[in-house]
Amino acid sequence: MFLVTGATGGIGRRVVRLLRERGETVRAFVRLTSRYSELEHRGAEIFIGDLREKKDIKKACKGVQYVISTHGSGSDTLAIDYRANIELIDYAKDNEVQHFVFISVLGAERGYEDAPVFKAKRAVERYLEASGLNYTILRPAGLASNLLPLAQRFRENGIYLLIGDPKNRTSIVSTDDLARIVVDSVNLDAARNQILAVGGPEILSREDVPKILGSIFNKEPVIINPPLFLIDGFRGALGLFNPEAQKAAGTFRTLLANEFFCKTEEVRKLEGIYNFQLETLENFLQRYLTV
Ligand SMILES: NC(=O)c1ccc[n+]([C@@H]2O[C@H](COP(=O)([O-])OP(=O)(O)OC[C@H]3O[C@@H](n4cnc5c(N)ncnc54)[C@H](OP(=O)(O)O)[C@@H]3O)[C@@H](O)[C@H]2O)c1
Repeated sequence: MFLVTGATGGIGRRVVRLLRERGETVRAFVRLTSRYSELEHRGAEIFIGDLREKKDIKKACKGVQYVISTHGSGSDTLAIDYRANIELIDYAKDNEVQHFVFISVLGAERGYEDAPVFKAKRAVERYLEASGLNYTILRPAGLASNLLPLAQRFRENGIYLLIGDPKNRTSIVSTDDLARIVVDSVNLDAARNQILAVGGPEILSREDVPKILGSIFNKEPVIINPPLFLIDGFRGALGLFNPEAQKAAGTFRTLLANEFFCKTEEVRKLEGIYNFQLETLENFLQRYLTV
């Protein structure tokens, strides 16, 4: 039995689908407010709970052999990105789980002081490494599935909002490839007790994304490119009313201000371990958008 947290999210949903396609038993940790009917139809066991509740985590871990942590927080980083993962690891140990897969983030080790999610991810990585469990820690760059709503809007009006430096490099990864990597991690010796950067096969600059959309939809992109200092101004104003939200926005700012891409040798290593070729962003978008 696999326990998947964040089962209704971009990665988690695809992980559950793949596990069910492979005939595995899956417990999907969802909230009552989550959109989980698809997972139920696919035959996953639906576990309704809240990752803020230790007793829910304890119950969800009962009798599972594998834990796949893919949940994200929105803004409650301490409770969800940090504490919920620590509790999952503790209960995974109690239940003698065979393998724990944790979705971290590219750059978790860089020590960004202003980015609570990055700090929480690094702290969880360390805790998992020291836990004695078998683990795979995956550090993805941006997920291609995040671009799908932006692409739909682009299809309608040709507008693409690009905040910050258009020349910053990124290696956006196909969320379907990432799901496959997650699922295969529990069976591959080469993935055991590894921390792996996960990015797409090409290093793009952020301004390449609207160009790719333009070529898919045959439309000249209209790029709106507000500078980063506007975000800083907004953050400053936010801090007057809601200091907690201001701190949480530090992660968003960090993502906009820095480069997140995988080196060629990191991509080769990944393709070697998992034995498949990663798809390009254009291929991913075409599969989803040109029907
Ligand atoms: N998106 C990226 O570009 C990116 C890049 C690198 C790493 N990551 C990491 O990858 C992971 C998954 O990202 P994603 O974009 O797939 O996430 P997502 O689509 O934002 O989904 C987040 C998931 O967490 C669940 N969740 C949030 N709070 C919860 C709670 N209190 N109790 C139970 N479930 C809760 C959500 O449930 P609901 O459906 O109920 O909201 C949802 O299933 C995250 O850990 C993120 O930090 C993401």
